[in-house]
Amino acid sequence: MTFTQADMTTFELGRTFDVVTCLFSAIGYAQTVDRLDAAVSTMARHLVPGGVLVVEPFVKPDEWVVGRVAVETPVDDGRRALVRMVTSDRVDDLALLDLHYLSGRDAEVEYSHEHLEIGLFTFEQYTAAFETAGLEEITVDTEGLIGRGLVTGVRPER
Ligand SMILES: C[S@@+](CC[C@H](N)C(=O)[O-])C[C@H]1O[C@@H](n2cnc3c(N)ncnc32)[C@H](O)[C@@H]1O
Repeated sequence: MTFTQADMTTFELGRTFDVVTCLFSAIGYAQTVDRLDAAVSTMARHLVPGGVLVVEPFVKPDEWVVGRVAVETPVDDGRRALVRMVTSDRVDDLALLDLHYLSGRDAEVEYSHEHLEIGLFTFEQYTAAFETAGLEEITVDTEGLIGRGLVTGVRPER
């Protein structure tokens, strides 16, 4: 298994694949519709003719809830304890998430913070990106694996 670190909008692996997947909402990090189009086109370019692209969207614009504070299940294995709280906000169609971590070990507690900005795209925008990439047989499963949907498309044989 080869791992290549690169930007989803511009990567070039020099080969093609039967299937390309972009799962668990990574596509949201494209952030803008232009970069969504670029990312899907770059992924599609890495398909063999007849190859399939599978993209798992992030949350849709009309489903994003602002002002939430989510506490995720704490982890404690007796040696280290970890808890994460996430706050949600929004600017235009960009979800703003602030992830606050408390990590405890040997009677010491460390705080760390992560700020994420993730694009809120509609199924129409995903479909348009697949069409712009020249993919066919485009399907939109609005439920998908975890309730965020799944978009697939096939690279034409010709
Ligand atoms: C929610 S995780 C999903 C990871 C993986 N697809 C999975 O199913 O577990 C989002 C991932 O997107 C990566 N990412 C963020 N911006 C990116 C970019 N511009 N190009 C490629 N990957 C990116 C992050 O590093 C992170 O690993």
